[in-house]
Amino acid sequence: MSTHPAYDELCALALRIHRFEHLQALAHWDHATFMPPGGQEARAAALGEVAALLHRLRTGPELGPLLDAAAGEPLDPVQRANLRELRRAWNLSTALPEGLVQATSLATSRCEHAWRAQRPANDWAGFAVNLREVVRLVREAAQRLGDHLGKEPYEALLDRYEPGLSTARLDELFGRLRGWLPGLIQAAVARQEGEALVSPQGPFPVDAQQALSEALMRRLGFDFGRGRLDRSAHPFTGGVPEDVRLTTRFDERTLLPGLMGTIHETGHARYEQGRPVAWLGLPVSEARSMALHESQSLAFEMQLGRSRPFAEVLGPMLSAAFGPQPAFEPAALYRALTQVRPGKIRVDADEVTYPAHILLRTTLERELIAGALSVDDLPARWDAGMAELLGLSTVGDFKDGPLQDIHWSVGAFGYFPCYTLGAMYAAQWFTAAREARPRLEEEIAAGELEGLFQWLAEQIWQQGSRWETDELAIRVSGRALSDQPLRDHLERRYLGER
Ligand code: CO
Repeated sequence: MSTHPAYDELCALALRIHRFEHLQALAHWDHATFMPPGGQEARAAALGEVAALLHRLRTGPELGPLLDAAAGEPLDPVQRANLRELRRAWNLSTALPEGLVQATSLATSRCEHAWRAQRPANDWAGFAVNLREVVRLVREAAQRLGDHLGKEPYEALLDRYEPGLSTARLDELFGRLRGWLPGLIQAAVARQEGEALVSPQGPFPVDAQQALSEALMRRLGFDFGRGRLDRSAHPFTGGVPEDVRLTTRFDERTLLPGLMGTIHETGHARYEQGRPVAWLGLPVSEARSMALHESQSLAFEMQLGRSRPFAEVLGPMLSAAFGPQPAFEPAALYRALTQVRPGKIRVDADEVTYPAHILLRTTLERELIAGALSVDDLPARWDAGMAELLGLSTVGDFKDGPLQDIHWSVGAFGYFPCYTLGAMYAAQWFTAAREARPRLEEEIAAGELEGLFQWLAEQIWQQGSRWETDELAIRVSGRALSDQPLRDHLERRYLGER
């Protein structure tokens, strides 16, 4: 006889939910990769049905009393953390009526699907029709969530991705970033003005790029027995820890963007594959937050992948795949991978200008959710922000402006800040990793990556959601999140010795 029957019942239900989420994740992956266009309406309806079913499971009337009863049962610390996460998920779910959840699933499916054709067609007017409906539904959800959690609406949306992050804390971190970033961008661009740049000479057939990406993923410890790499319009990592689905996109005219996209997604994937096996299927095994997730992709892509020592590993792999050329010499490759050039596209941005894209999106989506900005006025505000932050004109170029990202079409408001919070965490983790492994740079240059991965696995991947985010950060790095390690990293890499 268990001493914690209510807790056991909650876990059994969580596992059931997890298994439906497993199928939901694979249906989403298929939707973004191989599904023929004719499957759209039926898939949207099927996913809407699954979303409604999951919502019923997450909000069943038995849950409240079970959560209360489990709180009084004798639980160990991991079970206690699991219960905390079960309650958090329940709080988020019960705030929203099933009708709203289903309507949102349908509207976002439609908006995302249409976006895939509207973006290349530069069709802002067409997109705006669908986005208005998505924004309307997300604002309603934000209001209800906020009322339920005692937060303002945007903060309540943030909580879905970044538990515990207040808008006050976000304002503090991003306020400091906004203070130092523009000067750093200018200084880095000026610094590189006379730098000789050798670009890789293509074409680079996409099948060869795919093979190289897979070889690189193996080098980075990805387990192909539990996952695969495919292509989609917008790279992502999905699936479940036992079967992680990555996607990337290749362009045969360029080599490095697709490759770095793969390294980025591999960071996400290793976090997923490295989650604590003993707790799989329970909330305590989940990745801690989206910023934590992004901290792993950026640890791989930026901290490791674009570092000077890693160019010693990457260069020979490129030469082996496409034949040697001057651009594959490690010193030249490093300069190409750390080139700072303000551009319109977030996902192609270098790590210095990237946070500027996030500052803009965060400002605009907060105003959309607050009702201070309408969808119709979005392009004009976008253009003004790009001119101010990066000195670029995006007027009339919707496809490389507010149409470029998938996030708003799928209703993921509150997600964008996580990218830059992730960059801050990644820099903070690497500062700690260097203290723990003083020979880290030499190890990387020699291709000995296992020590770094082992450290990340122990410190972060295997911790799942055992700790709340601030506590995890303090355990790993001695302090809660700060913008300072990112600033130090960027100044060292872009304003120091090159
Ligand atoms: Co990412």
